[in-house]
Amino acid sequence: LSDTPLVVAIDGPSGSGKSSTARGVAERLGLANLDTGAMYRAAAWLAMHEGLDLADTEGVARLVEAADLRLELDPAHQDVTINGHDVTTAIREPAVSAAVSAVATNLDVRANLIARQRQIIAEAPDGIVAEGRDITTVVAPEAPVRVLLVADPAARVARRHAELGEHVDAEAVHDQVVRRDRDDSTVAAFHDAAPGVTVLDSTDLTLEQVVDAICALVPPAFDPA
Ligand code: DC
Repeated sequence: LSDTPLVVAIDGPSGSGKSSTARGVAERLGLANLDTGAMYRAAAWLAMHEGLDLADTEGVARLVEAADLRLELDPAHQDVTINGHDVTTAIREPAVSAAVSAVATNLDVRANLIARQRQIIAEAPDGIVAEGRDITTVVAPEAPVRVLLVADPAARVARRHAELGEHVDAEAVHDQVVRRDRDDSTVAAFHDAAPGVTVLDSTDLTLEQVVDAICALVPPAFDPA
Protein backbone atom coordinates (compact mmCIF):
# COMPACT_ATOMS: atom_id res chain seq x y z
CA LEU A 1 0.00 0.00 0.00
CA SER A 2 1.11 3.52 -0.78
CA ASP A 3 2.32 5.60 2.17
CA THR A 4 1.48 8.88 0.42
CA PRO A 5 -2.13 10.14 0.40
CA LEU A 6 -4.06 9.78 -2.86
CA VAL A 7 -4.34 12.85 -5.10
CA VAL A 8 -6.99 12.90 -7.83
CA ALA A 9 -6.60 15.76 -10.35
CA ILE A 10 -9.56 16.73 -12.54
CA ASP A 11 -9.54 19.45 -15.21
CA GLY A 12 -12.19 20.53 -17.67
CA PRO A 13 -14.07 23.46 -19.17
CA SER A 14 -17.03 25.13 -17.49
CA GLY A 15 -20.14 22.97 -17.60
CA SER A 16 -18.21 19.72 -18.06
CA GLY A 17 -19.60 18.57 -14.71
CA LYS A 18 -16.25 18.97 -12.96
CA SER A 19 -17.50 20.28 -9.65
CA SER A 20 -20.22 17.66 -9.13
CA THR A 21 -17.84 14.96 -10.30
CA ALA A 22 -15.04 16.04 -7.96
CA ARG A 23 -17.47 16.17 -5.04
CA GLY A 24 -18.82 12.73 -5.93
CA VAL A 25 -15.36 11.18 -6.16
CA ALA A 26 -14.27 12.79 -2.88
CA GLU A 27 -17.38 11.52 -1.10
CA ARG A 28 -17.03 8.01 -2.55
CA LEU A 29 -13.33 7.70 -1.65
CA GLY A 30 -13.40 9.65 1.63
CA LEU A 31 -11.07 12.37 0.33
CA ALA A 32 -10.99 16.13 0.78
CA ASN A 33 -12.18 18.28 -2.13
CA LEU A 34 -10.48 21.42 -3.46
CA ASP A 35 -12.35 23.61 -5.97
CA THR A 36 -9.54 25.82 -7.33
CA GLY A 37 -12.00 27.86 -9.41
CA ALA A 38 -13.45 29.08 -6.09
CA MET A 39 -10.03 30.55 -5.25
CA TYR A 40 -9.93 32.56 -8.51
CA ARG A 41 -13.53 33.59 -7.88
CA ALA A 42 -12.73 34.73 -4.31
CA ALA A 43 -9.75 36.71 -5.60
CA ALA A 44 -11.97 38.41 -8.19
CA TRP A 45 -14.62 39.11 -5.54
CA LEU A 46 -12.05 40.75 -3.26
CA ALA A 47 -10.57 42.91 -6.03
CA MET A 48 -14.07 44.12 -6.93
CA HIS A 49 -15.02 44.60 -3.28
CA GLU A 50 -11.93 46.77 -2.80
CA GLY A 51 -12.84 48.76 -5.89
CA LEU A 52 -9.67 47.88 -7.82
CA ASP A 53 -9.44 48.17 -11.58
CA LEU A 54 -8.94 44.54 -12.66
CA ALA A 55 -6.62 45.78 -15.41
CA ASP A 56 -4.26 46.97 -12.64
CA THR A 57 -2.48 43.62 -12.58
CA GLU A 58 0.13 44.66 -10.02
CA GLY A 59 -2.44 46.09 -7.63
CA VAL A 60 -4.67 43.04 -7.90
CA ALA A 61 -1.71 40.69 -7.44
CA ARG A 62 -0.56 42.57 -4.33
CA LEU A 63 -4.07 42.38 -2.86
CA VAL A 64 -4.34 38.63 -3.53
CA GLU A 65 -0.85 37.85 -2.19
CA ALA A 66 -1.75 39.50 1.12
CA ALA A 67 -5.23 38.00 1.34
CA ASP A 68 -6.27 35.57 4.06
CA LEU A 69 -8.07 32.97 1.91
CA ARG A 70 -9.69 29.99 3.61
CA LEU A 71 -11.50 27.07 2.03
CA GLU A 72 -13.33 24.24 3.68
CA LEU A 73 -12.25 21.02 2.03
CA ASP A 74 -15.16 18.85 3.15
CA PRO A 75 -16.98 17.85 -0.07
CA ALA A 76 -20.34 18.43 1.65
CA HIS A 77 -19.26 21.80 3.03
CA GLN A 78 -17.25 24.03 0.72
CA ASP A 79 -17.41 27.38 2.48
CA VAL A 80 -15.00 30.07 1.28
CA THR A 81 -13.89 33.13 3.24
CA ILE A 82 -11.49 35.87 2.19
CA ASN A 83 -10.20 38.50 4.62
CA GLY A 84 -12.97 37.45 6.98
CA HIS A 85 -15.82 37.80 4.46
CA ASP A 86 -17.90 34.67 3.88
CA VAL A 87 -18.08 34.69 0.06
CA THR A 88 -19.43 31.14 -0.43
CA THR A 89 -22.55 32.40 -2.21
CA ALA A 90 -21.27 35.72 -3.57
CA ILE A 91 -18.54 34.09 -5.71
CA ARG A 92 -21.24 32.31 -7.75
CA GLU A 93 -22.98 35.53 -8.74
CA PRO A 94 -22.98 36.57 -12.43
CA ALA A 95 -20.89 39.70 -11.73
CA VAL A 96 -18.07 37.52 -10.40
CA SER A 97 -18.44 34.97 -13.21
CA ALA A 98 -18.16 37.77 -15.74
CA ALA A 99 -15.05 39.29 -14.15
CA VAL A 100 -13.12 36.23 -12.99
CA SER A 101 -11.23 35.60 -16.25
CA ALA A 102 -9.56 39.00 -15.89
CA VAL A 103 -8.14 37.86 -12.55
CA ALA A 104 -7.38 34.27 -13.64
CA THR A 105 -5.26 35.58 -16.54
CA ASN A 106 -3.17 37.68 -14.14
CA LEU A 107 0.08 35.67 -14.04
CA ASP A 108 1.15 36.95 -10.61
CA VAL A 109 -2.24 36.03 -9.16
CA ARG A 110 -1.90 32.58 -10.74
CA ALA A 111 1.58 32.06 -9.28
CA ASN A 112 0.27 32.92 -5.82
CA LEU A 113 -2.85 30.76 -6.00
CA ILE A 114 -0.97 27.82 -7.54
CA ALA A 115 1.49 27.90 -4.62
CA ARG A 116 -1.44 27.90 -2.17
CA GLN A 117 -3.09 25.02 -4.04
CA ARG A 118 0.09 22.92 -3.95
CA GLN A 119 0.39 23.52 -0.22
CA ILE A 120 -3.26 22.56 0.42
CA ILE A 121 -2.78 19.35 -1.59
CA ALA A 122 0.51 18.50 0.17
CA GLU A 123 -1.11 19.02 3.58
CA ALA A 124 -4.26 16.93 3.02
CA PRO A 125 -3.63 14.01 5.38
CA ASP A 126 -6.20 11.62 3.89
CA GLY A 127 -5.82 12.57 0.26
CA ILE A 128 -7.69 15.04 -1.92
CA VAL A 129 -9.57 15.57 -5.15
CA ALA A 130 -8.44 18.85 -6.76
CA GLU A 131 -10.41 20.30 -9.61
CA GLY A 132 -9.76 23.17 -12.04
CA ARG A 133 -8.11 24.00 -15.37
CA ASP A 134 -4.41 23.31 -14.78
CA ILE A 135 -4.39 20.71 -12.00
CA THR A 136 -3.33 17.75 -14.21
CA THR A 137 -0.60 19.82 -15.88
CA VAL A 138 0.74 22.47 -13.50
CA VAL A 139 -0.58 22.18 -9.94
CA ALA A 140 -0.35 18.40 -9.45
CA PRO A 141 1.23 16.78 -12.53
CA GLU A 142 2.47 13.91 -10.29
CA ALA A 143 -1.04 12.95 -9.16
CA PRO A 144 -1.64 9.17 -9.53
CA VAL A 145 -5.07 9.87 -11.06
CA ARG A 146 -5.36 12.64 -13.67
CA VAL A 147 -8.52 13.18 -15.69
CA LEU A 148 -9.58 15.68 -18.32
CA LEU A 149 -13.36 15.82 -18.26
CA VAL A 150 -14.94 16.89 -21.54
CA ALA A 151 -18.52 17.14 -22.85
CA ASP A 152 -20.15 18.35 -26.05
CA PRO A 153 -20.83 22.10 -25.95
CA ALA A 154 -24.57 21.46 -26.28
CA ALA A 155 -24.53 19.20 -23.21
CA ARG A 156 -22.52 21.80 -21.26
CA VAL A 157 -24.95 24.56 -22.20
CA ALA A 158 -27.88 22.37 -21.14
CA ARG A 159 -26.26 21.63 -17.76
CA ARG A 160 -25.42 25.26 -17.11
CA HIS A 161 -28.98 26.16 -18.05
CA ALA A 162 -30.37 23.61 -15.59
CA GLU A 163 -28.06 25.04 -12.89
CA LEU A 164 -29.08 28.64 -13.51
CA GLY A 165 -32.79 27.87 -13.85
CA GLU A 166 -35.22 27.73 -16.74
CA HIS A 167 -36.08 31.43 -16.42
CA VAL A 168 -32.67 32.27 -17.89
CA ASP A 169 -32.55 32.75 -21.67
CA ALA A 170 -31.00 29.73 -23.46
CA GLU A 171 -29.09 31.90 -25.91
CA ALA A 172 -27.58 33.94 -23.09
CA VAL A 173 -26.38 30.73 -21.43
CA HIS A 174 -24.90 29.52 -24.71
CA ASP A 175 -23.05 32.82 -25.21
CA GLN A 176 -21.78 32.70 -21.64
CA VAL A 177 -20.37 29.17 -22.00
CA VAL A 178 -18.71 29.95 -25.34
CA ARG A 179 -17.27 33.23 -24.09
CA ARG A 180 -15.94 31.66 -20.90
CA ASP A 181 -14.24 28.94 -22.95
CA ARG A 182 -12.56 31.57 -25.09
CA ASP A 183 -11.48 33.73 -22.13
CA ASP A 184 -10.26 30.76 -20.13
CA SER A 185 -8.36 29.16 -23.00
CA THR A 186 -5.79 31.95 -22.79
CA VAL A 187 -4.96 30.70 -19.30
CA ALA A 188 -4.38 26.99 -19.58
CA ALA A 189 -4.56 24.70 -22.58
CA PHE A 190 -7.12 22.47 -20.93
CA HIS A 191 -8.86 21.32 -24.11
CA ASP A 192 -6.08 18.89 -25.00
CA ALA A 193 -4.98 16.30 -22.50
CA ALA A 194 -1.33 16.24 -21.49
CA PRO A 195 0.48 12.88 -21.83
CA GLY A 196 -0.74 10.41 -19.21
CA VAL A 197 -4.01 12.25 -18.61
CA THR A 198 -7.18 10.20 -19.15
CA VAL A 199 -9.82 11.95 -21.26
CA LEU A 200 -13.33 11.19 -20.06
CA ASP A 201 -16.29 12.32 -22.17
CA SER A 202 -19.30 12.84 -19.91
CA THR A 203 -21.76 13.81 -22.67
CA ASP A 204 -23.74 10.57 -22.52
CA LEU A 205 -22.88 9.51 -18.96
CA THR A 206 -24.72 10.04 -15.70
CA LEU A 207 -22.87 11.64 -12.80
CA GLU A 208 -22.64 8.24 -11.12
CA GLN A 209 -21.09 6.69 -14.23
CA VAL A 210 -18.48 9.44 -14.40
CA VAL A 211 -17.64 8.96 -10.72
CA ASP A 212 -17.40 5.17 -11.27
CA ALA A 213 -15.03 5.68 -14.22
CA ILE A 214 -12.70 7.93 -12.21
CA CYS A 215 -12.69 5.64 -9.17
CA ALA A 216 -11.75 2.76 -11.50
CA LEU A 217 -8.53 4.66 -12.35
CA VAL A 218 -7.26 4.59 -8.74
CA PRO A 219 -4.12 2.41 -8.63
CA PRO A 220 -4.40 -0.73 -6.45
CA ALA A 221 -1.78 0.65 -4.04
CA PHE A 222 -4.40 3.18 -2.89
CA ASP A 223 -7.26 0.69 -2.73
CA PRO A 224 -8.73 0.79 0.79
CA ALA A 225 -10.12 -2.74 0.34
O1 DC B 1 -14.40 26.48 -12.62
P1 DC B 1 -14.88 27.90 -12.36
O2 DC B 1 -15.89 28.39 -13.34
O3 DC B 1 -15.32 28.13 -10.95
O4 DC B 1 -13.56 28.80 -12.58
C1 DC B 1 -13.59 30.18 -12.35
C2 DC B 1 -12.52 30.87 -13.18
O5 DC B 1 -11.20 30.55 -12.75
C3 DC B 1 -12.56 30.56 -14.69
O6 DC B 1 -12.33 31.78 -15.39
C4 DC B 1 -11.39 29.64 -14.90
C5 DC B 1 -10.43 30.03 -13.83
N1 DC B 1 -9.63 28.92 -13.31
C6 DC B 1 -8.32 28.84 -13.69
O7 DC B 1 -7.85 29.66 -14.47
N2 DC B 1 -7.54 27.84 -13.19
C7 DC B 1 -8.05 26.93 -12.34
N3 DC B 1 -7.27 25.96 -11.86
C8 DC B 1 -9.42 27.00 -11.96
C9 DC B 1 -10.18 28.01 -12.47
